[in-house]
Parts: sequence; C-alpha cells; structure tokens
Amino acid sequence: MKLLDGKEISAQIKEEIKAEVAAMIDNDIRPPHLAAILVGEDPASQTYVASKEKNCQSVGIISTAYRLPENTTEEELLKTIDFLNKDDEVDGFIVQLPLPKHLNDDKVIKLIDPTKDVDGFHPENIGKMVLGEDTYLPATPYGIMELLKRYDIDTAGKNCVVLGRSHIVGTPMSILMSRNSKPGNATVTLCHSRTENIKEIAAQADILIAAVGKPHFVTADMVKDGAIVVDVGIHRIEDASKKSGFRLIGDVDFEEVSKKASYITPVPGGVGLMTIAGLLLNTLKARKAKM
Ligand code: GUN
Repeated sequence: MKLLDGKEISAQIKEEIKAEVAAMIDNDIRPPHLAAILVGEDPASQTYVASKEKNCQSVGIISTAYRLPENTTEEELLKTIDFLNKDDEVDGFIVQLPLPKHLNDDKVIKLIDPTKDVDGFHPENIGKMVLGEDTYLPATPYGIMELLKRYDIDTAGKNCVVLGRSHIVGTPMSILMSRNSKPGNATVTLCHSRTENIKEIAAQADILIAAVGKPHFVTADMVKDGAIVVDVGIHRIEDASKKSGFRLIGDVDFEEVSKKASYITPVPGGVGLMTIAGLLLNTLKARKAKM
C-alpha cells in the first residue's frame, strides 16, 4: 500500500503558487485576493474558513473573511455578495456552506458572479465543467484530480465508483472522472442512499471515492484487492488519549482498508489539504484572468 499524500502534494502546489504570486509582486502586479463569507457559528465551517485564510497568507494571496451573524437575512447576505461581485480588488470569493437553515444554498450560489465563483458551484460553471470547457472546478474534486494526476494514477478505462451524490463532491467527481481527460476516461458508477447492493458495487471498483459523510462507512469487505481508495470524509470522534480529546477519521476504515488498497488517502493529510490547494489554484486563475 502506498499513501496518496495530500500533505506532500498540497505543499508542492502551494510552493508553485507562492512562486507565481511572488513574481506578480516583483512586477508590481497586485497579488490575488480571495474573500470568504461565513454565516453563523458552525464549528466545522469556522475551522475551514480560518484554514483558508491561513493558507492564503502562506502563499501571498490576500484574504478577507466576512463573518455574518447566524440570523443574517437573505437580503443582508445578498448585499455582501453584491458588494464582492462589484469589488475590482476581489478576484474570487466563496460562500461557506452549509448556510443556516433559513437561507437557501442553491438560491444564494446563483447570485455569485460566475467569473468570481472560485468554488465552481454556480450553474454556469457546473455547465461548463460538464461540457469540458475551461472553468473553475469545485475545489474538492479538483484537488482529488490533481492528486491522482501527480501520482500518475492510470484511470482510463477503469471502473470508478463514487459513493455520495452531493453537489459539492460526489456529482462533480463523477463527471470529472468520466470526462475525456487525464486523469479521467473512467467508467463511473455513482452510488447514493437509494443504491441497492452498494457493498457489491463498491467491491468492483478499481478506484473507489468515498464521499458519503458517514464515519468508517467503507469497510474492507467493500474494497477490491489493489483498489485505489480516496477518502473525502472528515469526522471528529472522541479520543481520550489525545490532548484535544478527539481525533479525525474518514468515511473509510483506514486501518483495515489500507491492507487491501494499492493506494489510499489518509485522514487527516489527504483530501482536506487538496481541497484548499484546489481553491488556491482557482483564486490564482481568477487573478490571471484579469491580467
Ligand atoms: N463546505 C464544505 N466544502 C465546501 C467547499 O468546498 N466550499 C464551500 N463554500 N463550502 C463548503
């Protein structure tokens, strides 16, 4: 078994971005600027946004976070989106999901200027992705594709099973893996909560991508010998032996599955870091589009 090491590959990507941003600054070009809107107090979302800010700083990308209270109205949120849509000094921005229940994620995403939608969630950008046109790819699938690419994983003609059909991960992942690209050209099966015989289908995968949001959903009996396993899940579970009182686990039972897999992403240190790398790449792309 070999690790698909998100820590190493994301560090490599960040070095590449840092060098490009440094060259911009040397040439008196404004560095890229990413903004993030966070509504409410969801602890996971707070962690993600803080991590995005820290990672931007580490490569020289300017970052601004707009932290709005839980009871923000749709109208107030729209004002912030409108402001960022019009601000020439902001190249791209994201609205951290999920939004509080009184706000509609899909409706809000449609209000983002597609040219600034570095999450690649706007219907226009999703449409371009489906057609294979140049656009911002959703950060997690983008990060996974980069990871597979940089490990030179051969996906053409292989059986790829994606578990989970979220708009953020499962659905775009299934499209990217089936596109005529490298990596890509896989034969893709998208499984979800209504799939019958999910264990049997997963066990036929050459490449298994788990994005179901359930801790240790994927057990060793669901994995073919030699499969490539990508774990998108990230869950906190109590662990008294840790100083923090918790540890992070994925959708995959790493200990057992890693005995069968040829390649596998760890949690932490896998897909999570690649998501950030994907977002930074999109932000750089947004800046370059204006140069
Ligand atoms: N929530 C979970 N993942 C993401 C992401 O990639 N972007 C945004 N905006 N929200 C998320």
